[in-house]
Amino acid sequence: MTKIKVTDRAGNKLELEAVEGRSLMESLRDIDNGMEALCGGLCSCSTCQVFVEPGWVDKLQPAKDDEQELLEGSEVYRPGQSRLACQIRMSPELEGIEVEIAPAE
Ligand code: FES
Repeated sequence: MTKIKVTDRAGNKLELEAVEGRSLMESLRDIDNGMEALCGGLCSCSTCQVFVEPGWVDKLQPAKDDEQELLEGSEVYRPGQSRLACQIRMSPELEGIEVEIAPAE
């Protein structure tokens, strides 16, 4: 398990455990004030968008073209911070990562 710090859509700050080897989205879709994740992780909806705290962004694998395209088409896109949680694979290096769940569009 990897500890993560999350600000939910209501502004609440939470500490959760994410399962290594699984996507970050899987730990965030079932919480109160979480995310929809409508496509189930297929990188085709952008409803799992998070804003990654500066300082953590460089620890992530860069976004692939299809992820980047979806993010840039989003109304709430924040350059340099937005990522799709379904495309972030949890690993021990991400212990303590801080993210904010993006508002619904
Ligand atoms: S769950 Fe749809 S893009 Fe991540």
